[in-house]
Amino acid sequence: MRILAIETSCDETAVAVVQEVDSHYMVEHAVLASQAMLHATWGGVVPEVAAREHAAYLFPLLQKVVTDWSSIDAIAVTAGPGLVPALRVGVEAAKTFAFMLDKPLVPVHHLEGHIFSAFYIDIPPQLPALCLLVSGGHTQWVLMKQKGEYEILGSTRDDAAGEAFDKVAKMLGLPYPGGPSLSKMAQQGDPEAIAFPRPMLHSGDLDVSFSGLKTAVRVYLEQQKKMNQLVNISDVCASFEQAVVDTLVEKTVVALKRVQVKSFILAGGVSANRVLRHQLVARISREFSQVAVHIPDLTLTGDNAVMIAIAGIERYKLGHTVQPSQLISHAVVPLSNAYDIFTSST
Ligand code: KG4
Ligand code: ZN
Repeated sequence: MRILAIETSCDETAVAVVQEVDSHYMVEHAVLASQAMLHATWGGVVPEVAAREHAAYLFPLLQKVVTDWSSIDAIAVTAGPGLVPALRVGVEAAKTFAFMLDKPLVPVHHLEGHIFSAFYIDIPPQLPALCLLVSGGHTQWVLMKQKGEYEILGSTRDDAAGEAFDKVAKMLGLPYPGGPSLSKMAQQGDPEAIAFPRPMLHSGDLDVSFSGLKTAVRVYLEQQKKMNQLVNISDVCASFEQAVVDTLVEKTVVALKRVQVKSFILAGGVSANRVLRHQLVARISREFSQVAVHIPDLTLTGDNAVMIAIAGIERYKLGHTVQPSQLISHAVVPLSNAYDIFTSST
């Protein structure tokens, strides 16, 4: 089958056409327009501005990727979670195409999309798998029992890992988007220079909290200023990054001791972080040699439509589609956090 996928949940407008042949995904076209430069002016994503840009970019991108509309079997779209005005642009466009082409619409959960970014390889992860989802809005350990069946094992109690990176980067005056800027600065720093806390590290459960760590960085910066001490920004970045990575790695070990899995998947924007990638791989291969580690290619760690297409293909095969006739009767595509495929264990 051939699926057209649209992703507009945040500040990337992304479109892809992916075909599934003999259980393999073939990316025929994938394009992306990033608004990062635009939102840098505000130091964060402005939802209404993002929506306006999605509306402006979506059609030129579609024109690039879809050469033959009649060859499309289904249309996948990110239905949530994300910024509601931004999501709406993609969802309304996808509904219109589904209706006009008389093809099924496949609403995709953004985080399930991130998980499936790790499936775009020759030998995909075997299930069950433990997934660590680390994005700008989420930090969760999710047990993927099978495709379409998930259980949340633990999550952040406050800030997501990506959000903490972004907020600390802003405190340090680093350019938006904060995560990549901070991790770049960290490369020149000493991860042991400042002893930032690792909140809830030994709580025994799979909950984390990054808000206290963020406050610790603020307090440190204020103290240094009061004492007229120069701040080594690279050291702050490296020490902060190491605190986040230590927390994520330790809790992943707790999770892997709790569940019997064949694979571990790291996904979401923060999975681009090299220190996190390296230290997770090292620790898991040392302590859980039977667990295969899967981390998406760097081109697929951030928001993209290839992952939405792959998740869409799998949901289509499970029959989780909206038929064009249903589109006439009522608005059936839920938006944002209301659309939740992950069932919590608590
Ligand atoms: O998954 P994603 O692209 O968008 C959401 O679904 O939220 O994740 C974006 C997050 C941002 O917070 C960004 O700062 C963070 O991923 N990020 C990083 C790195 N690259 C992106 N955080 C740490 N290190 C990186 N290299
Ligand atoms: Zn994302």
